[in-house]
Amino acid sequence: MVQLIHNFFMVTMMTTDVAADFDLKTYLTTKCAEVEAALEQSLPVVYPETIYESMRYSLMAGGKRLRPILCLATCELVGGTVAQAMPTACALEMIHTMSLIHDDLPAMDNDDYRRGKLTNHKIYGDDVAILAGDALLAYAFEFVADRTQNVPPKAILEVIRRLGKAVGAAGLVGGQIVDLASEGKTDTSIETLNFIHMHKTAALLEVSVVAGAVLAEAESETIERLSRYAQNIGLAFQIVDDVLDITSTQEELGKSIGKDVQAQKATYPSIWGLDESKKQAETLVQAAKDELAPFGTLKQPLVAIADFITARTH
Ligand code: FPP
Ligand code: MG
Repeated sequence: MVQLIHNFFMVTMMTTDVAADFDLKTYLTTKCAEVEAALEQSLPVVYPETIYESMRYSLMAGGKRLRPILCLATCELVGGTVAQAMPTACALEMIHTMSLIHDDLPAMDNDDYRRGKLTNHKIYGDDVAILAGDALLAYAFEFVADRTQNVPPKAILEVIRRLGKAVGAAGLVGGQIVDLASEGKTDTSIETLNFIHMHKTAALLEVSVVAGAVLAEAESETIERLSRYAQNIGLAFQIVDDVLDITSTQEELGKSIGKDVQAQKATYPSIWGLDESKKQAETLVQAAKDELAPFGTLKQPLVAIADFITARTH
């Protein structure tokens, strides 16, 4: 984890838009440790142990914890506290984790490695992995409702509504089903590809950013601005993911590479080529940062994270 954050920091330092006095390494290390501690406490291991162990195996497998950190950052940006946003931050990681457990199943992408470890179904079997994903999804909603404190019930309800929309047929599931249907097709349009990724990837990043602001009772104009920031970084994130699937290594990414080409999936590089894909990602990152113009110095983590999207190598 320390190495991951170190790499993340080194890459981000090479970019130019982050204020020189902003210590991103300390920010990420601190926030990531807080999220890890909260996640560690979030799951009991009780009877029936198998399901809790399987949930914990994937939830605690590391990762950049980008979604929780975005949620905490926007909550603080608009005047809220880490404590107000932490249950939602944990729920976002539970949802992200469950989507990856299901995505890796033989019925979907059939992947053996995730975050440098064997995938959940490789350890526990398909049946348990499906149930672990289901249980993490259900628990995420319970967790927000149960643990959020010092936030008006109306704001908590709005977060739950937005989370439901982001993961269901209007969000992740919708993106995933179009993605699966597009496999093996050579004529996938850029519109379809954008639909897939706006739903499969950007929707959860968007709710991560927006939920933090909702919990801190931000004005609707602020929420819309942050939503556009998130959609732009979400799409850029996916474009870079597609690029890295071609240019990176399994060791760097912690998961199988070259899968998109193997599965004959349409990707941004397959439509635009590598150079144009990188250019488009940079344009989106700039658009994302433009949305942050009205905010003060507390926007620095969001600026740095946007820059990281295009600079990352893993
Ligand atoms: C990884 O994409 C997968 C996702 C971003 C989400 C997939 C969504 C689902 C499986 C739906 C889950 C169900 C609910 C209810 C939310 P990828 O395969 O392009 O990337 P990878 O190389 O990291 O696997
Ligand atoms: Mg996959």
